[in-house]
Amino acid sequence: MDMHGKTAFITGGASGIGLAIAQRCAAEGMTLLIADIEEGALAGAAATLRAEGATVFTYRLDVADLDRYRAVAAAVIADHGAPFLLVNNAGIAWKAPASAATPEDWRWTISVNVLGLGYGLSLFVPAMIAGGQGGYVLNTASITGLIVSPGGSAVYSASKHAVVAISETLAHELRPHGIHVAVLCPGSVATNITDADRNLPADLTPDALSSAAAEERAFTRSFVDNGIAPAAVADQAFAALAERRFYVVTHPEYRDEIETRHRQIEAAVRGEPASDVALLAMAKQVL
Ligand code: NAI
Repeated sequence: MDMHGKTAFITGGASGIGLAIAQRCAAEGMTLLIADIEEGALAGAAATLRAEGATVFTYRLDVADLDRYRAVAAAVIADHGAPFLLVNNAGIAWKAPASAATPEDWRWTISVNVLGLGYGLSLFVPAMIAGGQGGYVLNTASITGLIVSPGGSAVYSASKHAVVAISETLAHELRPHGIHVAVLCPGSVATNITDADRNLPADLTPDALSSAAAEERAFTRSFVDNGIAPAAVADQAFAALAERRFYVVTHPEYRDEIETRHRQIEAAVRGEPASDVALLAMAKQVL
């Protein structure tokens, strides 16, 4: 996998997992095209990366803002061509339960985590195909794209299941074009995601969101703060790209929950009764 001199476009690249992926790309000798909604963090990340010797271009972008995304993608393609590695990573975690989520909880989460990712694909993948150079797409989902959690994560979990489904179909579509797709499904990672509401859109006020999500913050903080380092996630993602693996599951401790879920589905396919106890067993607190 020779990425030297190639470009990587990374959304949510100013913090956490996205920044670690950017650093990993820089270590491969790639040119970094980093997009993020947070202007100050973007400037700070660019300064850090440049101090480490990277070539960096930054783009202020809310991935849910289609007009802005169109303009950014057009500028990227005009100046650098289609990215060789497209990393759809920007995301927010807001733990609203299905039974108490407000319409605004749904709108915010789905617009960033699903539409924002879809826009990235719409705006870059046709140019990647047309360029004929092959390449890579790395989509950041979550372990909760594979299992669900009892802690009110329905809205977030729905968005991450969507990312997994989109990635699975995209992998088939892009294989004939030599573009490898991988989906990143991390468990807890020590990042700034607990304070995702620092990037609340201007047309949303905190009181429009479910108070249950705010009450979950203490759990989310301890989950995230005890997480693995973002650099370890980036290393695993790159190893998967190099070996052309699809699922990147960074936390093997969720194996029982994943297997239990699949056994439930297989039992249903065979017409066997599913056990409620087993269903509960698959529900571990995740983000
Ligand atoms: P983070 O908060 O440290 O980084 C997320 C970055 O995305 C920030 O720089 C933020 O400014 C940016 N961002 C947020 N909304 C945006 C928008 N509308 N447009 C453009 N940029 C936006 O959090 P982290 O953990 O690095 O999150 C990255 C991805 O990893 C997310 O998709 C998240 O769902 C996923 N993830 C994180 C886990 C964790 O434990 N930290 C676990 C599983 C998945």
